[in-house]
Amino acid sequence: MTQTIPLDDKAVDNLTKAEAAQELARLAKEIAKHDEAYHTQDSPIISDAEYDQMRQRNEAIEARFPELVRDDSPSHKVGSHISEKFEKIEHDVPMLSLSNAFSDEDMSDFDARVKRFLNIKQDETITYFAEPKIDGLSCALVYENGTLKQAATRGDGQTGEDITVNVRTIEDVPHQLAGEFPQRLEVRGEIFMRKSDFLKLNEAREAAGENLFANPRNAAAGSVRQLDSSITAKRPLKFLAYGYGALSERPFESQSSFRDCLEQWGFSLNEPSQKCESLEDIENYYRDLEVKRPDLDHDIDGIVYKVDDITLQERLGFVSRAPRWAIARKFPAEKAITKLQDIIIQVGRTGALTPVAVLEPVNVGGVMVSRASLHNQDEIERKDVRIGDFVELQRAGDVIPQILRPLLEKRKGDAPAFIFPDHCPICGSEAIREEDEAVTRCTGGLVCEAQAVERLKHFVSKYALDIDGLGDKIIRQFFEDGLINTPSDIFTLQQRNHNFDPPIEKREGWGQKSADNLFQAIEEKKEIPLARFIYALGIRQIGQATAKKLAQTYKDLDNLKDQMHLAYSGEDDNQALQNLLAIEDIGPAVAKDLIAFFHEEHNLKELERLKDHMTIMPHEEQKIDEASPILGKTVVFTGTLKMMSRNEAKAQAELLGAKVSSAISSQTDYLVAGEKAGSKLKKAQNLGVTILSEEEWKNLINNQE
Ligand code: IVH
Repeated sequence: MTQTIPLDDKAVDNLTKAEAAQELARLAKEIAKHDEAYHTQDSPIISDAEYDQMRQRNEAIEARFPELVRDDSPSHKVGSHISEKFEKIEHDVPMLSLSNAFSDEDMSDFDARVKRFLNIKQDETITYFAEPKIDGLSCALVYENGTLKQAATRGDGQTGEDITVNVRTIEDVPHQLAGEFPQRLEVRGEIFMRKSDFLKLNEAREAAGENLFANPRNAAAGSVRQLDSSITAKRPLKFLAYGYGALSERPFESQSSFRDCLEQWGFSLNEPSQKCESLEDIENYYRDLEVKRPDLDHDIDGIVYKVDDITLQERLGFVSRAPRWAIARKFPAEKAITKLQDIIIQVGRTGALTPVAVLEPVNVGGVMVSRASLHNQDEIERKDVRIGDFVELQRAGDVIPQILRPLLEKRKGDAPAFIFPDHCPICGSEAIREEDEAVTRCTGGLVCEAQAVERLKHFVSKYALDIDGLGDKIIRQFFEDGLINTPSDIFTLQQRNHNFDPPIEKREGWGQKSADNLFQAIEEKKEIPLARFIYALGIRQIGQATAKKLAQTYKDLDNLKDQMHLAYSGEDDNQALQNLLAIEDIGPAVAKDLIAFFHEEHNLKELERLKDHMTIMPHEEQKIDEASPILGKTVVFTGTLKMMSRNEAKAQAELLGAKVSSAISSQTDYLVAGEKAGSKLKKAQNLGVTILSEEEWKNLINNQE
């Protein structure tokens, strides 16, 4: 038995029916897995291109064997990578906001206003109902005959978004009401996440290398706005009702008796709550909750006081976008004082240096805090915070607090000002800050460990080295296991393989065949055109187009390096710098990044190592066929092309002497419109530009004699 080609590599045309069924099952599972990874916020495991390839393969197999199309086929779902929007829902009764009060005085003004409006004497009693103002996102639930029919976000107050499917996954939201209820009933309330659940969620995300949510409200909002409700279902969301919208009849007279109904229907109640009969009650409740606030397991940002009697509410009505019968008394942001033990510098994936305050742990509003971001150099200088200072912190809903100020009166002696590093703490390369930019960045892109994974991924990506079998996931694994640290390590992988424990072919998911394929794929990419190589280096701001222009100008790598070296002095009369700035698209900021890259010793050493293993081919002018039918024409591509990628189409057009533009104008000669072409197609029609289908375009460029 010699099956050499793994099934997933086998051309669709060569698959037997049984193999096709097996492949469709595998693809359905794989694609579902990647859909989920993608939607668990910014954590795709594979590139979009690899994902698209899987979908295309799935479609091709289904086209050959229509009878094998599975019920759970990915082709039944609109590509989840394509953002489907939530449907819009018009609210029957607008969802309003609340006016705010910040002091006891604001509260007595509110009480006086209410009484004046109702023509009640100021010394008479009005009953208010007070409850916490939950810091989440509001949601309107529509019940018909007691069955949950629809859930909508607040949106702009008039129109929200249909989040019914996701809200059905929240445990606190009854699908069927208990007891007696109006035939049609809209319950309004707040979706939120508990502080403890939020911390657990973030811990899990950190362990999985995923982005963290800034605060429980963002986490709740991000979870509710998932296009895939199975992800929402896994998030610990809560719901507390506070009000109602449209009703077919009203079986309650007051805010407090409305809550009795809520409880009977099966909702949890927002506690602690209280009826207030006087300004004194109002103030006492506030002081009381202010003390309890840190111990509550969810963030609240104030108290809502509502006139209890619904008949009075109706008489009071609304002014602009807020009811006259309710007010939100806001809490001040939670503050604390602690000692700044140290300032450390973290280096992000893109090389940005971020100063982080290391604090003596302190409780700020129920959350232990030991770190705070200081953002950048300017922020440290503006606030004049120094190591050893006592600092005042503020946490406003966010778990990551802000440092407000140092307590200068407590500063001992002459603590030195913090000196922002001019070298990367991770790799030792120079760190530079561009004019008009707040961020300082490490220039050691090729060698810096903090940036390594991103750089390696870029180095082997499709428009760079394009090494088959070295996807993002494998790069990350090889990096984490110490097999590859810098790009040049890729070319010594085979040679070093016998030292690895285990060697690649023995690792999970690998075999001799796939390991050999990988070594072969690497071998094939040892020879590379200069433009691709420059792009592969991942120098900040140097994309494919600029890389190509650099290759055209400098022809070979050594010359490029020498010229960048000469340009370093930066004087106005520096000819090398002038030549660089004369290149289209290269301004002072791009030039600075480029020169800094080639000035950094660590990068130069890595370039030498790469040159030992690779042949970087000098740039050769491509001769454009004088007979090209599109020579000198301006072409715009739009919509989804079927036969090739947009990038490939563009490269091909340029090769034939056309200029490819991204915007339609009267200068455009051809618009090539793929599927789902949108506004560009309309504009081209209006301007009378020649519109070609992908097939017509193919015919045009292939018919050159
Ligand atoms: S009553 C007419 N009660 O706060 C609006 N709102 O700033 C009556 N909120 O959109 C709202 N907890 O999303 C009310 N206990 C509570 C609340 C509450 C949170 C939110 C609600 C509203 C926003 C207004």
